[in-house]
Amino acid sequence: MEQNELKRVDVSFLKEGMVLSGFLYNEKGELLWPARKPLNFSFIFNLKKNGVDFVYYSPPMYKTDTALREGMFSKESFDYAIEAIDEIVHEVKYGKLSSLKLAKLSVERFFHEMENHPTHFLNLLVLKKYDQYTYYHSINVGILSMFLTRKLGYNHIYVQDMGLAGFLHDLGKIKIPAKIVDKNGPLTLEEYQIMKKHPLYSYNLIKDDNNISNFVKKAVLFHHERWNGSGYPLNLKGDVIGNFASIVAICDVYDALTTDRPYKKALSVNDTLYYILKKSDEYFNPFVVGRFVNEIARINGIASFFPVGSYVILNSGETAYIVAKDDEYTLRPEILILKNFQGKPLRTPIWVNLKKDPSRYIKKIIEDQGEIEFLSKLH
Ligand SMILES: [Fe+2]
Ligand SMILES: [Fe+2]
Repeated sequence: MEQNELKRVDVSFLKEGMVLSGFLYNEKGELLWPARKPLNFSFIFNLKKNGVDFVYYSPPMYKTDTALREGMFSKESFDYAIEAIDEIVHEVKYGKLSSLKLAKLSVERFFHEMENHPTHFLNLLVLKKYDQYTYYHSINVGILSMFLTRKLGYNHIYVQDMGLAGFLHDLGKIKIPAKIVDKNGPLTLEEYQIMKKHPLYSYNLIKDDNNISNFVKKAVLFHHERWNGSGYPLNLKGDVIGNFASIVAICDVYDALTTDRPYKKALSVNDTLYYILKKSDEYFNPFVVGRFVNEIARINGIASFFPVGSYVILNSGETAYIVAKDDEYTLRPEILILKNFQGKPLRTPIWVNLKKDPSRYIKKIIEDQGEIEFLSKLH
């Protein structure tokens, strides 16, 4: 949580029973009081007793003020990356891939800018003309994959490897007829079967290159594999897919969904993250998703998904209160179930750690103020 996103509030302003739509933090940025829960006497009393004069108020989630913030990556680096992708595409079209020298230098540039500006906004290329899609998409997936690999704690070698994997992941689309790749609408079944070959084509273009690590090759080949085995080309399942392919897969979907296409409007960052979260057990490695969503949400100024103190509906139909969150598994916090699946309040709320209960997951957050006030009296 960045201090400059918070508003300083005099403690004398706080009154018992007051319901705030945002969160209260102390000056260290630690959460003091959840959103939408009426302030109680002892909370205010303790602040005063401890000599606290000010608290910090964070407005409701989903705030985006990224336009005002400085970007992590320079225009020169993006221009350089476009040149690098151009070189790769030309080499493949008119012969075979050579050293990937430009691509590697481009990734290195992005890496240094990322390391030098860790608090800056993660700026991606925004598509202006549809025919630039594959170039822009490859660069964005490369940047996002580097960012996520870093956030997962890998060293610079793996981080740069994943930058390269992002650049190369869809290269095999060159081998697929343009009328399928550039089609302005959903693919037919037959076209889809052809399209599904692109990870294998991408892999075939790089598999014999000793200067490309096996991590890159695997990430490229497996970037459409899915956690539940429903992906392609090999229908791999779970951990076998590996963290690196999961990283590229999530970044791939994120960039695709947040970009306008001729037949599909872009989703907002919030909606995209929410989609990825919902699919975390089905499509993506939940561990990698947890970190991705946290980091992208944080860097976009989104307070948190399902923040502590919010009320949610579960897949079971039950209603619950978020008690504590787990940074690795944003989608699976600790909850207190307040109402059963028929909507009847429970006499004794049930505490559940969603991380240990795979049968339940959060479907949506409750935003109706009346319902929130009612629920706040149940615990
Ligand atoms: Fe792909
Ligand atoms: Fe892609």
